[in-house]
Amino acid sequence: MRRPVFVSLRTKLIAGTLLIVAVLMAAVTAVVEHRQRTTIIEEVHRRGNALAEGLAGVSVGALLLYNFTALEQNVVRFDLETDVVSAMILDRFGQVIAHSRAPSAVGSTPSDVVSLRALSEAPLFQETAGPHGEPLYDIAVPILVEGARWGTVRIALSRQRMDAEISRTRRELAGVAVVALVLGSLATAVVARRISRPVRQLADGVAAIARGELEQRIEPRRSDELGRLALAFNEMAAQLRQQRADLEVADAALRQRFAELSDLKSYTDHILRSLVSGLVTLDLDGRVVTVNPAAELLTGCTATALAGRPANEAFHYAPELLDVLHETLRTRVGVSQVSLVLPRRDRPPVPIEVITTPLRGAEGQALGVMAILRDLTPVRQLEEQLRRSDRLAALGTLAAGLAHEIKNPLTSIMTFSRHVARRFDDERFRQRFQSVVPRELERINAIVDGLLRLARPARLVLAPVHLPPLIEQALELYAPQIEARRIGVRREWPVGISPIPGDAEHLYQAILNLVANALDAMEEGGGGTLTVRLRWPQESDGFGGASHDRLLLEVMDTGAGIKPEETPDVFNPFFTTKSGGTGLGLAIAHKIVEDHGGTVTFRSSPGQGTVFTVALPARAGRRADLTTVVQRRSGTQAQ
Ligand SMILES: Nc1ncnc2c1ncn2[C@@H]1O[C@H](COP(=O)(O)OP(=O)(O)OP(=O)(O)O)[C@@H](O)[C@H]1O
Ligand SMILES: [Mg+2]
Repeated sequence: MRRPVFVSLRTKLIAGTLLIVAVLMAAVTAVVEHRQRTTIIEEVHRRGNALAEGLAGVSVGALLLYNFTALEQNVVRFDLETDVVSAMILDRFGQVIAHSRAPSAVGSTPSDVVSLRALSEAPLFQETAGPHGEPLYDIAVPILVEGARWGTVRIALSRQRMDAEISRTRRELAGVAVVALVLGSLATAVVARRISRPVRQLADGVAAIARGELEQRIEPRRSDELGRLALAFNEMAAQLRQQRADLEVADAALRQRFAELSDLKSYTDHILRSLVSGLVTLDLDGRVVTVNPAAELLTGCTATALAGRPANEAFHYAPELLDVLHETLRTRVGVSQVSLVLPRRDRPPVPIEVITTPLRGAEGQALGVMAILRDLTPVRQLEEQLRRSDRLAALGTLAAGLAHEIKNPLTSIMTFSRHVARRFDDERFRQRFQSVVPRELERINAIVDGLLRLARPARLVLAPVHLPPLIEQALELYAPQIEARRIGVRREWPVGISPIPGDAEHLYQAILNLVANALDAMEEGGGGTLTVRLRWPQESDGFGGASHDRLLLEVMDTGAGIKPEETPDVFNPFFTTKSGGTGLGLAIAHKIVEDHGGTVTFRSSPGQGTVFTVALPARAGRRADLTTVVQRRSGTQAQ
């Protein structure tokens, strides 16, 4: 686009005003000139007419009397008048009878057009030219006598003076116009200067502001619109300065924030890079946002391949992980420590533990979900090692316990069998043999039974089991002992508690062992209270909040309690503090509960009592959850 040529406001103003003044002056001059010219011409006409009328008037008598001398004198007299070039009188036939300048023309009859027209009845004013071409007026006036034309008076009037007058008038008018134009230009120049200077100042100021030089101020010296414009300009410049100052402050703050943010980002990036656990974040639309190097290693996919893609697509080969992510996205509640196996492309699957947390912004608005993936391979390897060494240690303990347990009865049986041939006839010996050997054999049998129970893989027959009747059955079995030792029994369970899936016979065995231990723990002397309680877990129980997912069975006594140093051993086979005990009761109870997918824990205060808590799945198919809980609680509480 072509840039328009710059023409200053002042030039435009002067040019415009001059144009208007010129047009106006031209119009005024034209009108005045026209008027003046008309007036001058009319004046000449009137004078010419008056002269002709006068000549006609004074010549009527002489014409009637054919007094040519008088007529001659008349024309000479009128010829003396200013501007009169010639005067003549014609008779009614158009013949010249008197002529002021050319006496030779008397008697001739002029026949030119002007002369012929001059013979009309009415006075006539004609433009004509003299013999040398000079412009003339020919004024003809008839000489009437009683309405009849007796002759014609013609006066030739010079237009020289009139034309000179008209020219002078025109010159004067032109002079006035020129003066008006000059004055108008000067006045316009002054006004334009007065207007354009502040306007230029304003324009310069605005241009300077546009260049960013905001320190502009225009002195408002006037009280008109330009003065107000200057004030407004100053105000605008001040506001711009203020805004720039504010902007600079905001900019500095932003820069600082930006620097802080980039620091934070590199800090976060560094943390993400050095995290041993994999970290994956999704936005609210379920698209992958962040994948740290550890997560890349775990999933076997690069961050660039995963980022920006919907999780469904990115992790389609790991439906379990997707489930956890989607559940957190949907419920906005984190999932803690879910163990799963992560299938991978071109690599063997890896056991991982997933923790998800909903991501929230500063104002608590949901942003997405974060998942931490922990590689459980080393943990699993350690667990395997531990299990192996545990198994070996347990086998050792078991073997030692077994040897110890069996050795005593075997020794007494062996002693008896060694003497049996020799002392068979001894009545007392035979009686002792009969009372000791079967008892010791019974004991060995009980130990082997218990061991078998422990070692045999459980063949559970799961069916809905009502626990209260099982508890009643166990209490009934021990009723004589309870009565004899005056032990108080408290039963605490909600009315109409729902059945749980389980094997009634096995569960009865477990309850029996717990009740037996509780009774054993209370002093021989009598007193004490045995409490058997069934309840749903509370928040404080550490089973992931209040729920009906599992049922708790508590067997509480006010007995001697378990010494802290014995705590790690109570579930070990053959660990017993009782003279007649096998130390298999709790091991069997633990196995039964574990076979049901439950847990056994205890709390004990020496001298005050012990409470054993059995948590059993209350719904079929919750075993996995409970296993998770078992893993989480392991190490913090004795099992
Ligand atoms: N309620 C309890 N109060 C105090 N100590 C207990 C309690 N329950 C178990 N114990 C301790 O744990 C040990 C092991 O118990 P466990 O039931 O396995 O074997 P036991 O009772 O000694 O023998 P068995 O059950 O074969 O008769 C007990 O000897 C006892 O020291
Ligand atoms: Mg026992």
